[in-house]
Amino acid sequence: MTTVPNDRSGADGALLDAGEQLSGAELRDLQLRRLRATLRHAYDNVAFYRNSFDAAGVAPEDCRTLEDLARFPFTTKADLRDNYPFGMFAVPEADIRRIHASSGTTGAPTVVGYTRNDLDMWADMVARSIRAAGGRPGQKIHIAYGYGLFTGGLGAHYGAERLGCTVIPASGGMTARQVRIIQDFKPEIIMVTPSYMLTLLDEFERQGVDPRSTSLRTGIFGAEPWTEEMRREIEQRMDIDAVDIYGLSEVIGPGVAQECVETKDGLHIWEDHFFPEVVDPLTDQVMAQGENGELVFTSLTKEAMPVIRYRTRDLTRLLPGTARRPFRRMEKVTGRCDDMIILRGVNLFPTAIEEIVLRTPGVAPHFQLRLTREGRLDRLTVRAEARPGASPEQRAAAAAAIAQGVKDGVGVTVEVAVVDPETLERSVGKIKRVIDEREPRPRA
Ligand code: DLL
Repeated sequence: MTTVPNDRSGADGALLDAGEQLSGAELRDLQLRRLRATLRHAYDNVAFYRNSFDAAGVAPEDCRTLEDLARFPFTTKADLRDNYPFGMFAVPEADIRRIHASSGTTGAPTVVGYTRNDLDMWADMVARSIRAAGGRPGQKIHIAYGYGLFTGGLGAHYGAERLGCTVIPASGGMTARQVRIIQDFKPEIIMVTPSYMLTLLDEFERQGVDPRSTSLRTGIFGAEPWTEEMRREIEQRMDIDAVDIYGLSEVIGPGVAQECVETKDGLHIWEDHFFPEVVDPLTDQVMAQGENGELVFTSLTKEAMPVIRYRTRDLTRLLPGTARRPFRRMEKVTGRCDDMIILRGVNLFPTAIEEIVLRTPGVAPHFQLRLTREGRLDRLTVRAEARPGASPEQRAAAAAAIAQGVKDGVGVTVEVAVVDPETLERSVGKIKRVIDEREPRPRA
């Protein structure tokens, strides 16, 4: 889809493209047409989908309403790995213009491909996202998402250019130099993971620069879960608007959903291209709007690698649209099913600890979770960093406050170690919060 600017403005005065101006009925009609075409394209051109639809006894033409999608089988990351590297592609390899891949810490990485039209659509969606975040043509955008096989850097890059912005392709790392570049080049916008933003903030302070004095006005943060407490921390220390961008390589990359700066109330899903469902991760049943579960996406316009009911493992819920009304919102992601820690029967996400650590005086917003096992008992140690100059009494009070906060808020007892300033590893991209040092569970 090409962005068609016209004279209709959003609540924040931004020009809206044609997709953002659809009525609810027009959107649903468009989604159904695109969904039926996508199911047909996947069935005809990808052996995996042909086999999985046949096994489930459904055919593309069985999809007569949007609700019929629930009759089709899910697709998982394991399915993508089983078809490594190009088995999920629905077009000849010569028509693929770009390939990205996930890091793949375990097993084969997942590979994704894009046609020329896919790259155009992706750039349009990232441009729409940056505009919803408050970005405007002519502004400068510092991109500190990693460039390379990761979709963050290049995805943000082409979207920013599509909007008509000036791109500073900083990528991740060389933190001291990034701070210098921000001061000298004076970008209005930064796109980076929230955890690396904290690393950059510390570096500003180390160089004696007041982060509130920079040219930056907007931060577009994503690629990992982050909380309202983190938003407050970054907004206050930098004097910027901090908004959330969501996406995953399998669906496209960044730009699947975006928070609008004027409402900061969760992320509008660009539903004219990505159809969301939320399902119960245990029963696989589709949940009603407002109920929490696992987010599932079906692509509506992708050519190279259509995905049908792709299980993201991300937990959230769907809500009605606000600032971009035809589209539903998703609440900020609480965490991934995979990141859930089960501690003595209690489910716990790193974001729950983030909220507590960031509320606690005397500690910096840097923390790590260490899982160990003694006998048959799992233990979780929250390692939080003391603020420079915090006294031993303040550190002890902070440790007690975090332990109590977790006990009251989550309902489980954890150890807390308040460590010296500057001792926890800093993020340069997606942060790894949990260090699992448990031995393999003893056999029953
Ligand atoms: O992280 C794409 C991206 C890049 C999104 C830059 C936003 C900004 P993957 O490496 O495939 O793609 O990882 C996707 O990251 O399933 C979520 O678990 C997590 N994630 C991405 N954005 C958010 C977010 C990119 N805003 C996985 N909040 C997803 C929470 C996020 N988690």
